[in-house]
Amino acid sequence: MLSADAPIGVMDAGFGGYTVIRELQKLLPCENIVFFGDGKNQPYGNRSREEILCMTRQCLRFLQEKKVKAVAVACNTISTLIEEYQGEFPFRIFSIVRAGSDEVIALRPRQAVLFSTVFTAQSGCYQRYIREGRPEVRVIPQGSPWLARLIEDGDFDREKIEKELRQTLGEAARSHPDADTLILGCTHFPLVADLIRQLYPQFTRMVNPAFVQAGQIKEYLEENHALRAGGEGSLHIYTTSDCETYSRMAEWVGLKKPELVELAPAPRMPEPSL
Ligand code: DGL
Repeated sequence: MLSADAPIGVMDAGFGGYTVIRELQKLLPCENIVFFGDGKNQPYGNRSREEILCMTRQCLRFLQEKKVKAVAVACNTISTLIEEYQGEFPFRIFSIVRAGSDEVIALRPRQAVLFSTVFTAQSGCYQRYIREGRPEVRVIPQGSPWLARLIEDGDFDREKIEKELRQTLGEAARSHPDADTLILGCTHFPLVADLIRQLYPQFTRMVNPAFVQAGQIKEYLEENHALRAGGEGSLHIYTTSDCETYSRMAEWVGLKKPELVELAPAPRMPEPSL
């Protein structure tokens, strides 16, 4: 039996997860939310599977100690490995890759560019989920090694961000001029969606998986009679990097004011095997 008053946990490699919290706060304003953002170990998207899994388990244990009733893995990179860790925790874990894929399946584009970290693009996870629902949709994966990191720096250096976009997304846009749908397959990317729209107007439709993920969590809590009945929901932010940047970005993204922004211990890397 889930406790309605328990918080919803949200986790990400960095503050990109704020794009999911924004949707949760709109949809479920009474819910308390605990966020864990591992900015220190970012970018996860350039790490190995073993490193990601080891750090993910530590992030989830942190949320487990906060007695969460469900967790949104806002990070696409971490979500690609959900089958590996979801059975180890006593709460339901929601994958943002599943949410984004469900939306693509509903939209049925002919071709969609998946713009994500290199890890997510190479994992084939979006491609697999979408193929299961709509085999006719062509998914063109395009990874960016540095965009999430550049955004996480928090100063929105337009020159650097634009250069990275041109070297990565620019390539996919040029080679696939008929692709009109763009999957924002990294939670940091909706934060530069306006710039992407300006540079690449061919993408007339952008899929931000955060909407669907928030909806799936609402549905699950409803079905389990675990929605918080009333009152104003709170937001507690734990970061492994800089609290000042995390507070400033929370305001910039348009989140309700957090009651707490606190430094948390960073997950440790796996021991090197001898
Ligand atoms: N925001 C994460 C994602 O959605 C990636 C950030 C990172 O690579 O550390 O994939």
